[in-house]
Amino acid sequence: MKKIVTIIGARPQIIKAAALSRAIRNDYSQMIEEIIVHTGQHYDSNMSEVFFAELQIPKPDYNLSVGSGKHGEQTAKMISGIENILLEDKPDAIVLYGDTNSTLAGAIAASKIHIPIVHIEAGLRSFNKSMPEEINRIMCDHASTLLFSPTQTGYENLKAEGFTDFSEGPYTADRPKIYHCGDVMYDNSLYFSELAKKESDVLSENFLQKGTFILGTIHRDHNTDNSQRLTSIFEALLTIAEKEKIILPLHPRTSKKMKEVLSDELNTQIVNCENLQLIPPVSFLDMVMLEESSTMIITDSGGVQKESYFFQKPCIILRPETEWVEIVENGSAIICNANKELIIESYQNFVQNPPRHFPNIFGDGQASEFICDQIIKYL
Ligand code: UD1
Ligand code: UDP
Repeated sequence: MKKIVTIIGARPQIIKAAALSRAIRNDYSQMIEEIIVHTGQHYDSNMSEVFFAELQIPKPDYNLSVGSGKHGEQTAKMISGIENILLEDKPDAIVLYGDTNSTLAGAIAASKIHIPIVHIEAGLRSFNKSMPEEINRIMCDHASTLLFSPTQTGYENLKAEGFTDFSEGPYTADRPKIYHCGDVMYDNSLYFSELAKKESDVLSENFLQKGTFILGTIHRDHNTDNSQRLTSIFEALLTIAEKEKIILPLHPRTSKKMKEVLSDELNTQIVNCENLQLIPPVSFLDMVMLEESSTMIITDSGGVQKESYFFQKPCIILRPETEWVEIVENGSAIICNANKELIIESYQNFVQNPPRHFPNIFGDGQASEFICDQIIKYL
């Protein structure tokens, strides 16, 4: 029996962890014991609790209740809490997802006491070190023992940074193994989209009809904390809303920052715009339902960009670059940064020429099972 400690903290990690937990419960319960640690990075019920019952994730064994704070302060509290748990529980490995401060904290705590790190969503790079996430993911990758990249590009990025794809174990932090194995989020989208159709009332609750609205999300600090960028994004959304309804489930960071960084006039325009519907964050089943029913997605989220591709929707990316370069090369997503004119123009282009081809680049929906097999074999 292998004992793993899984670290979750931010919304997308809770969602990603659902895929591996499901595989363990269904097929590996005799071989893998999972201990779940929630750092408490996200804590509002619609950013955390809502996902557990809905996605059938076991309740966390520990919650560090770290909450929000400055990067160093937040990460330091997490490192200390995770270290104590690792010392007590002595797992065979720690499993880390993505690139948040919770990921980095897990990597630092585990590597110093020689617990092998499994990094899921390894190898992704924006090549923009002003993003906290870029620092987190590089540091985590370089301390890991098993690195699972969801895309070919991620795998190539690791090779370019000096990782070798050894064909035989044993694997250690000094001799790590890299894989291109598909995306656990794709596993989830396949699994939950049928359930969403049965269980989600999000369309009727928000008076929406399938195929008549755009879905948007904004939460990246680069956008929310910068008055010029957030203004430009909302001005573009207001222009697009003259043509088509937009629904925007807003991350709490964004709702808070809008009041601070947007002018009173723009805030009033947003509130008065009937076609721009701001709602609190939604559950994952509701989100999947919104994604599947939308005509287009406008987002700065990493996960939502990918889901736009899974559900074959055009995507306007509100960032200067993306880690998911395949979807841009494929023509189904356009990098618009916070450029008002480009956002509006890309919207019009997509309305006239919607992308039609979405080749499968995110695996076969079985990434979680593959990861479990490797953990059993090598750790
Ligand atoms: C974090 C991740 C980011 C990820 C995002 C997913 C880091 C550095 N960033 O960004 O990579 O894309 O999560 O959503 O780890 N807040 C609440 N309630 C909550 C959580 C947050 O009100 O439950 C507010 C607080 O004002 C907080 C702010 O949101 O200060 C930012 O939260 P934080 O977790 O620090 O970063 P995110 O922007 O959520
Ligand atoms: N998501 C959700 N409810 C929302 C917004 C997003 O369930 O109101 C899901 C979304 O479907 C995706 C994940 O959260 O699976 C993405 O998280 P987020 O955008 O917060 O972070 P990122 O992926 O950018 O790190």
